[in-house]
Amino acid sequence: MHLGSFGRPWLLVSLLAGVTVSLVAHAAGDPALGKKKFYTCYGCHGVPNYRNAYPDYRVPKLRHQHAAYIVAALQEYQAGTRSHPTMHAQASSLSEQDMQDIAAYLQGPEPIQPTTTMVGRMPPQVQVCAACHGANGTGVAAPLVPKPPILAGQHEDYLIQALNEYRAGRRIHPGMSPEDYVRENPIMMGMAASLKTEADVRTVAHWFATQRSPLATATADSR
Ligand code: HEC
Ligand code: HEC
Repeated sequence: MHLGSFGRPWLLVSLLAGVTVSLVAHAAGDPALGKKKFYTCYGCHGVPNYRNAYPDYRVPKLRHQHAAYIVAALQEYQAGTRSHPTMHAQASSLSEQDMQDIAAYLQGPEPIQPTTTMVGRMPPQVQVCAACHGANGTGVAAPLVPKPPILAGQHEDYLIQALNEYRAGRRIHPGMSPEDYVRENPIMMGMAASLKTEADVRTVAHWFATQRSPLATATADSR
């Protein structure tokens, strides 16, 4: 379902009902504007296998990632609760509307739908992740908040990096203390409880990275 196609009737209804119009601005981004605003981002995210230096890992694939997750990630970088100096600088220049527009552009009109196809035999460590990410990393049908990101087809070294950031308690939501996050966010609890060793981290990262999905590098001509 494309939220954009809802924009106008909703605006009309809101006006008739006297509801504030700023609600509509939050509802959906404009993908055409988002493509323009993504201009400075192509230098890293538009180059296949482009690498972050120190530590060395590939920058995440963003094309077709869920819009709600992209907005959340940008807010976390902006707030500094997800620490990465370059992405903090990038996100700091973005308004809330810029984030929505960019996210709408990256996700595209058809969000990735959960599938059940699996490549290979699912390792036992993945069992606990399936409830939110789907066994193959393409997600689940349930409308979860916060929206879990697509993991299928993401770069393996990036997934390892991300998981180790969570294990170290370095990715938290804006306004949350690390203590709140561990208490209130089942993700961190689930991961901390289940991924005990670096070998476990590598096993799940390899699994999700090798599953099929439309997640891709956001090159300028990608759709
Ligand atoms: C100099 C390279 C560089 C540029 C330019 C850049 N990024 Fe990033 N981006 C990265 C790296 C590296 C990461 C992974 C950081 C981490 O480990 O958290 C990242 C992560 C992200 C994520 C999180 C993805 C996920 O799966 O969690 C989003 C969203 C994102 N960038 C969007 C943008 C946008 C939008 C722009 C332009 C306004 C941008 N980036 C510009 C290097 C860059
Ligand atoms: C209760 C739901 C839930 C469970 C269970 C869960 N996750 Fe997540 N996961 C999420 C949500 C929500 C996010 C986004 C959080 C954020 O914004 O940082 C996330 C983010 C991630 C990311 C970051 C991806 C990126 O692009 O940066 C990775 C990697 C990940 N999860 C892997 C796992 C693995 C591996 C497991 C099982 C060991 C797991 N998750 C279990 C909900 C869940």
